[in-house]
Amino acid sequence: MCGIVGYIGTKNSKEVLINCLKKLEYRGYDSAGIALKNERETQIIKSIGKIINLEDKLNSNNLITANIGIAHTRWSTHGKANETNAHPHCVGKVTLVHNGIIENATTIRNELIDSGITFSSETDTEVVAALLNKYYDGDAISTINKTITRLTGSYALGILFEDDNNLYAIRKDSPLVIGIGEKEYFIASDITAIINYTNNYILLDDDEIVTLSNDNIEISKAGTIINKEILTTDLKSEEDNKGEYDHYMLKEIMEEPILLENLFQKYITNFSLLPDLSDYEEIHIVACGSALYAGMIGKVLLEEKANIKVICETASEYRYKKTVYDRKTLVILISQSGETADTIASMRKVNKQNIDTLAIVNVKTSTMARESKFKLFIEAGVEIAVATTKAYLLQVATLSLLSYKAIINKSPVTNSTLIKEIKILPELLKEILTKREIYQKIAQVIYNNEHAFFIGRKMDYALSLEGSLKLKEISYIHSEAYQAGELKHGTISLINDNIPVIAIISDSTIKEKTLSNIEEIKSRGAKIILISNEEITDYDLTITIPKVNEILQPLLIAPCLQLIAYEVAKLRECDIDKPRNLAKSVTVE
Ligand code: AGP
Repeated sequence: MCGIVGYIGTKNSKEVLINCLKKLEYRGYDSAGIALKNERETQIIKSIGKIINLEDKLNSNNLITANIGIAHTRWSTHGKANETNAHPHCVGKVTLVHNGIIENATTIRNELIDSGITFSSETDTEVVAALLNKYYDGDAISTINKTITRLTGSYALGILFEDDNNLYAIRKDSPLVIGIGEKEYFIASDITAIINYTNNYILLDDDEIVTLSNDNIEISKAGTIINKEILTTDLKSEEDNKGEYDHYMLKEIMEEPILLENLFQKYITNFSLLPDLSDYEEIHIVACGSALYAGMIGKVLLEEKANIKVICETASEYRYKKTVYDRKTLVILISQSGETADTIASMRKVNKQNIDTLAIVNVKTSTMARESKFKLFIEAGVEIAVATTKAYLLQVATLSLLSYKAIINKSPVTNSTLIKEIKILPELLKEILTKREIYQKIAQVIYNNEHAFFIGRKMDYALSLEGSLKLKEISYIHSEAYQAGELKHGTISLINDNIPVIAIISDSTIKEKTLSNIEEIKSRGAKIILISNEEITDYDLTITIPKVNEILQPLLIAPCLQLIAYEVAKLRECDIDKPRNLAKSVTVE
């Protein structure tokens, strides 16, 4: 999604903004732009494609000397990815960058056109710039306050006024942090953009306006000055830190064993950090994408192992659904970023009804971490690759730990075998990850196809969904995940010679059933790739992983699926860390 940065201070703003913008590349974007400002003028330069294109353009232009500026990476919503639609947008005295969606932009645009204003882009952002310019009377704060009363939707805005040397920012339902340096300030969509410059920051809340000059910061809401706490992050910069790996995705997969070890250490040694789910009669798990698929594993574990009723639902549906909470319910919201618009909206809907919310998040400064009643941090560190791997795995691990606590609380027989397995699991995973040849061999079978299937039952179906998503998002191969028993009800018509089908079998109680399903598709020509915790050698390619307790088993299977997707995407020469059209943090509906 769009990324915003802004700077005011004593440094060359172009250098600072480009450095910060590069840190937001992982969010996904299709064009970029920058506005440089000094006391006399404002200069805007934009380009489509990667930030390197913007840098080339900056290098071939005569740039003004500037210590103030705003910059943006755009993930298009209103209008194509071209230079006209790229931010910053300038109308009259106002130049701005925007993240979010203005839902009533068409109404305001038509109203402004009727009053004689012309627009050059198709964006909702230019509408905000035009409205600010229309209301501008020399008083920036009252102008911004007047403008936001007209806007519906979400926005984080960085704003410059031509005859004013401050940098202004405001947000509503879109993330924005303010970085506090030595005689310099920053605005950014997330803290990772500015950690090379400062670890101190303020989190803006909805409709708070910040005014930044190079030696002062003032925050107000509806005309009243407010004091905000300055926070410090211990995040470290990941810059140029792929180490020995070709891609961040591979590096992040390889970090999984140590991160699992640390997570287990944190929660097993301090069990009280984990909420007791057996206090609840019903649990709802709500999330999007991979986080939802992690939640589906949680549902199987909690229902089957801890006997708790669980409903798992995609956040974009849950937020609009009528939900009756007639039993003691906990709503678990899972999100790497903690800024996913639909998941936040679901959380707010639940909070309003005074139902307990638990956020399982990675980003500690995120909206979900702040607004949920309970929170659990998955401790994945910064995840740079757009396609999630380590964060997904740690979401699953957190759900495994929650199930473990719920199981133990229901039947307090200490499970020493399970504890032993938890301790050795990172080592087992490390071994699985080192066998790169098998994933490369499997990738050879898959990469020339345009279609693939993943099948499994129960937890293995939830894993199939994530395996399939990973493959399609980074390799662009069309892939579908099916419950193994369901394929024959229609979709089996798509099975033909050599189509790859990745089958997962980890639940011995239904192993024979899935094996029959595999035979049905094998006899129609499919190439079977089997991942199982039992030695089954009847298929084209097999990965056998160690058998561990069911609550830990997905943690050994998911990384195999991630590596298969990675090797396939590599053979297809895809942009693995930044797949087309994708955004790391989906901050709009
Ligand atoms: C990750 O590979 C996905 N592209 C995506 O589905 C992601 O999991 C989803 O957008 C949810 O993000 P979140 O965890 O930050 O809420």
